[in-house]
Order: sequence, then C-alpha cells, then structure tokens
Amino acid sequence: MEYYLETQQIDISQLNINNDAILVLVSFIIFKIYQKTRVPEGLKNVPTLSFLVLLTEIYNKVGPDKRWEDIRDILEKEGIGKLWFNGEWTLTVTDLGLVKDIITKTDLYPKSLLGESFPGNLVTQYYGDNVVFSNGDVWKRHRRIANPSFRNIPVHVFVESAIKLLNVMEKVDNEPIEIRNLMHGLTLDVLGKAAFGFDFNNLEDPKNVYVTAYNDVMEELSKPIYYLISFLEHIVPRTEAIRKIAKLNSLYDEMVEKKMKSMKTGEIDEKINNNSADLLEHMVHACNDPENPTLTSEELRHDLAIFMLAGHDTTANALSTILYLLAIHKDVQKKVRDEILRVLGDDLTPNSEQQKELKYMNMVINENLRLYPPVANLPRRTPSKDIKFRNHVIPAKTPIIINIYGIHHSSKNWENPEKFIPERFENEKHDHYAWLSFGGGNRLCLGINFSLIEQRIMLCSLLRKYEVSLPADSIHKDKLQIAPEGSGTMGPHPLPLIFKRRTE
Ligand code: HEM
Repeated sequence: MEYYLETQQIDISQLNINNDAILVLVSFIIFKIYQKTRVPEGLKNVPTLSFLVLLTEIYNKVGPDKRWEDIRDILEKEGIGKLWFNGEWTLTVTDLGLVKDIITKTDLYPKSLLGESFPGNLVTQYYGDNVVFSNGDVWKRHRRIANPSFRNIPVHVFVESAIKLLNVMEKVDNEPIEIRNLMHGLTLDVLGKAAFGFDFNNLEDPKNVYVTAYNDVMEELSKPIYYLISFLEHIVPRTEAIRKIAKLNSLYDEMVEKKMKSMKTGEIDEKINNNSADLLEHMVHACNDPENPTLTSEELRHDLAIFMLAGHDTTANALSTILYLLAIHKDVQKKVRDEILRVLGDDLTPNSEQQKELKYMNMVINENLRLYPPVANLPRRTPSKDIKFRNHVIPAKTPIIINIYGIHHSSKNWENPEKFIPERFENEKHDHYAWLSFGGGNRLCLGINFSLIEQRIMLCSLLRKYEVSLPADSIHKDKLQIAPEGSGTMGPHPLPLIFKRRTE
C-alpha cells in the first residue's frame, strides 16, 4: 500500500512537470509566432497585402499580371504595401521616389543574399555567390571580372543561331508552331555558345542529355513551395534534385577547367585577339590579369549558372511576347518589316550602325519590355539601417521588392498603361524610374546590349521572311496568358503562332 501511494505520488508530480513543460512549450511557440508575425511599429500604417490572396494566386498558378490586378488599388494609391511572406514582413514598392533611392543607394539597400533568404537551400548552393547575388567587395570582384566579356558581343553566335532557327521554321510553313519553347531553345543555344563555347543544340535536338539536364534543374529550382516555406527543404530530402544539379555542375566545372588549361597554352590570348573568345574565356583571362582580384573555379561556375538564368529565360520570354504583340498588331508588324527592308537592303542581319537606324523596332522592343518585363520583380533588397519613408519607419533588414510589373502598368506613370503604343518611346518623356526592364543604378543589367542585339537580329531574320499571326483558336486571343514566375522570370504560357512565308 505504502509502495502504491508512493508510486501514485511520483506519477502525480511527474504529471505536473509534464503539464508545466507543455505549458512552457506552448507559450514559447505562441510567443515565437507572435514575434514572427508581429508588425514592426514603423510599418503599422503600411497597407497590408493579403497573404491568403497570395496563397490562392500560387495555388491557381497565376502570373504577375493577375497579382498586379489584386494589389493595384493599394499600390497605385500608396506606392507601398506589406506582405507576410516566408516568415517575415516583406515590402512591395512602386513609389518612384523610394524606388530611385533603393536603386541608386546600393550600400544603404544591399541585395538580400540567397543564403539569407533561403539558408542552406538547393537554390543557394547552386547559384552560390555570383555577380547577380552579392554585395560590396564580393560583387565588385565578380563585376570587374565579368565586365570585359560584355564589351565584346558575340554577334557571330546570334547570326549562326538565327540561321539554325530559320532552318527549323522552314519545316513548318503556315502551321502553328509553339514559340515559347522554341525561343527558349534558341536562347539556350545562344547562351551556351556565347557563355562557354558549348552547343546545347536545343534547336535541333531538344531532348538531348544536356538540354534535359538544364531543364530538369530549372524545374527543380523553381518549385514555389520551397520559396514559400524555405525550411521544408531541410525536412523533405530532395535526392533527385541534388543528383540533377550535380550532373549540370559537372558540365560547368569541366568547361571552367578546360578554359583554365587553354589560358596556360596561350589559346585564350589568341581568341581574344581575333575576337572569338566566349564570356568564360574573357573571365578566365581577366582573372589572370595581375591588376584584378581573381575568382575561384567555383565562383566562375556560379557566374556561369547565373548567366544562364539571367540571359536565357529573360531574352526567350522577351522574344516570345514581342512576336505575340506583332502577331496581333499587324499594322505594327508591317511597319517594323518595312523598316527592316529599308535599313538592311539585302543584308540578312543588321550591323551596329544599321541597328541604331532601326528606330521603330527599338521602340517596339521597349514597349514590349514595358508591357511584359521578363524580370517582373527585382530581387529583394534589405536596408542596412532604419529608413524613414513618409510617416513610416522601415526597420533595417526588412526585405523590399521593387514591383517592376506594377510600375510599368501603373496609370500614375503611363497613359493607358495596358495599351500597346510603341510611339510612347519616341521622345522618352516618361520618368526615368518608370521603365525598369533592365534594373538601374550600378546594378544595371550587364547583358542589356547582348540581349537587345540578339532580339534585333532574331526579329530581322524572322520578319523579313515570315508574316506572323495568332491562330484563331488561341488561348491568347483576348489577352496574353502569363505563366507564374517560376525561376524568377515572367513569360507566357505555351504560345503557338503561325509563320507564313512571305512571297513579295
Ligand atoms: C530581356 C533580357 C534581360 C532582362 C529583362 C534582364 C533584366 C535584368 C535586371 C532587371 C537586372 C537587375 C537585377 C537587380 O538589380 O537585382 C539584371 C541584372 C543582370 N543581368 Fe540581365 N536581363 C536580361 C538579359 C541579360 C543577359 C542576356 C545577360 C547575360 C548574358 C544578363 C546578365 C545580367 C547580370 C550579370 C546582371 C547582374 C548585374 C549586377 O548586379 O551587377 N542579363 N538583368
């Protein structure tokens, strides 16, 4: 009996301890949730953008256009909104004054690094520190090495790929051809050759092992769930994704090693002298300049990985949307073609002087990038100290996203923002920060000329030979259907267009 009482007593006291422990744990969790979701004092008056609406948008796989519709009223009025995202309050900004501040003061508004937003995640490991995602001295080192490569635009690569593209088109006269994938194939080939002298051969053999490896990795890295709840990756093993990334990385590593060897044999010097070096060769060359701080093989690989992302999806989407616009605006298509025929005469592709003369085409390119900016949101910035903005105080480290799509579609910045009017670029009357397709300040896109020249060459080749139209039963007949941003760029859902050979 005594023994029984004793054990009873022990049990009861243990029960108390357990209750207390549970109470402490629950209080701790509630406190943590409160801490995480509590709106900082300075942001209390910033309008809130609904998290539930965002979840519904992700679930419905909508694009940045629909997202803008949902937040337009708030942002056109206030220029700023707050959203609880990935465990913290994040600001979306369209106010041009604040945008200018963020873009021009890079020390005050450094970029949020992948490792800070997604610590230890695959996306962080794959892209590492690179010229796009770095700050301060690390960024300067990358940018200084990358800069010279972008002064030498590999026009011959664009021309070779344009010819290959025409060969593909040749086989499908007057039948719908899916342009989004075709443009992705084209720009992947261009980037592979221009960046490291490697032919993915996507245009002719879209199912080959390297194209598949690249596409597989992009698909794995663009799964939205791992951005929304980044710690999930540390719970769910992603063995398959790791295997695919390792395969692609081994291709990049092989390329870097090969270029380093050719640097030693003098082959790269020779290529630079005769203007045939690729981006990686220029970078390896710059790394060997005693004046420059160098990059490691791994850093070079990370730059290659980010060039592929920054330079391939973006231009592919720009080409797809511009072809769509030309297909549905036949008058503009004719005007662009007339200009090409007048300026180029019998030349297949424009030289640099002729490109400047393609004034109307350049306006159409700008207007396309305004309506459908391939980078719809700039990567986040996190202020290094508290920022006073109107009656708000943005605490240091608050992630800030510049909503380019919103800025380009706001009636505060553009008359009839939803209308396609290339002439609005005739005298460039708009606010400097109202058109941000390539970003701005000292983080301005390194590949602007690369992409613009590529776009001009492809448009000249296609329009001189073909008339483009939209099939009558297209899902895009009322409005271009835009896909979710995926790996960070904005583009259309599959887009069949008809290319009819011209007879004149
Ligand atoms: C239509 C095509 C393109 C668009 C719309 C575009 C857009 C952008 C934007 C908005 C930024 C600024 C990012 C930021 O401030 O956080 C950027 C940066 C960059 N882009 Fe592009 N880009 C395009 C093509 C290219 C191409 C073809 C390449 C290379 C082959 C390239 C390489 C880069 C690099 C390296 C940066 C980082 C610059 C830095 O931070 O120093 N881009 N791009």
